[in-house]
Amino acid sequence: MENFVINGGHELFGDVNISGAKNAAVAIIPAAILANDVVRIENIPKISDVSLIIKILDCMGATVKMINSDTIEIDSQALRNKSVPYELASHFRASYYLIGTMLGRFKNAEVAMPGGCDFGTRPIDLHIKGFKMLGADVDIVNGMVCAKAEKLVGTSIYMDNVSVGATINVMLAAVLARGLTVIENAAKEPHIVDLANFLNSMGADVRGAGTDVIKIRGAEKLHGCTYSIIPDQIEAGTYMVAAAACGGDVLVKNVIPKHLESISAKLIEAGAEVIEYDDAVRVTRYKALNKCNVKTMPHPGFPTDMQPQMAVLLSVAHGTSLLSESVWDNRFQYVGQLTRMGANIQVDGKLAVIDGVDELSGVKVKATDLRAGAAMIIAGLIAKGETVIEDIQYIDRGYEDVVQKFAALGADIKRIKTTEAESIVNAG
Ligand code: UD1
Repeated sequence: MENFVINGGHELFGDVNISGAKNAAVAIIPAAILANDVVRIENIPKISDVSLIIKILDCMGATVKMINSDTIEIDSQALRNKSVPYELASHFRASYYLIGTMLGRFKNAEVAMPGGCDFGTRPIDLHIKGFKMLGADVDIVNGMVCAKAEKLVGTSIYMDNVSVGATINVMLAAVLARGLTVIENAAKEPHIVDLANFLNSMGADVRGAGTDVIKIRGAEKLHGCTYSIIPDQIEAGTYMVAAAACGGDVLVKNVIPKHLESISAKLIEAGAEVIEYDDAVRVTRYKALNKCNVKTMPHPGFPTDMQPQMAVLLSVAHGTSLLSESVWDNRFQYVGQLTRMGANIQVDGKLAVIDGVDELSGVKVKATDLRAGAAMIIAGLIAKGETVIEDIQYIDRGYEDVVQKFAALGADIKRIKTTEAESIVNAG
């Protein structure tokens, strides 16, 4: 077991390089098997969710080679039509993209119901609706999603809710369907556009990604390609919020500033300065933080994945801020950890009322999920004294070299192995 130990109170200065996008990588890597060929993918983030999806492909017979530290080559010619068991699928949400890709390639998929962060019920009804409308029979048997079709035929699919996962899964199944699939009320997140660009590089015909209508004309087959994943919007946003919360001057490099506009806008409202360059943003903050109201929305709104980090910043801003979560039912579970550090936050359903306090103080806290874990790091960085963060395996799911990157900005943060005895005492 490992913890992060942070001694807070340092401003952040310097440059940080953003890695490839987790949410794009976990869709693009399984999408590579649609080609039945060799695909090279660059700018892969070194995070545990990516290791897991590679492990699944490996278990299914694909050959995955590391070409260098951030490039892999996937040869899926020997991939077999095997089921994806609970032990592999239950660790993360994106395992469900194997349903779309296996259905596309083999017209048959058996994948255990996915795991992932717990923010209340996370239904997959829209994924299933999409597969059925493409002509598949879909049943859930003993916790396995079983989908099969004689053939997939394109059709018009209206998404009742804006869902990133369902939009991606239907795209994955539809690229090898016959005829035209139209996804209406599609999600518009940057990683949807990145997936569409990747599929098109393999010979697919996907248009309209990034708008709410995506049109996919099915191809006979796809071919290999070389593709570079976009930078991670949420990792970039996390360093931007950290810089604004701690104060200082940080250049966040290798980003697409357009993807960060909603985050930049809120940081400016809260008293930071944000300057955009071609592929970098600079965040400085020397004056006191002000309250501001934030509502999470599907892209291009403020991302739900930045909500916990923003809560930390607002917890030490002057005045009362309203933070409203409109994507998930239960995404304030981390608030108890922050109040133990001295934050004054009242949660009423999907609304958090945050009364800014002068300072937070370091205590032992838990990462309750991936982004809540990132929020605990920022809380530790601004808190007085020592913060110990437990359950950091959640943070490792989505942040490459987080300790090294923050330490290079001047933070006092370390990854410490806990002894077995300490772990037992802590568990008790
Ligand atoms: C969502 C975020 C994504 C983020 C991820 C983890 C949005 C639109 N998506 O993606 O950016 O990375 O959470 O925080 O902000 N839903 C259904 N039926 C379904 C699928 C989803 O009703 O079959 C609902 C969900 O309950 C939720 C909403 O749609 O209220 C968004 O879910 P979805 O976009 O699918 O979630 P993720 O893909 O996990």
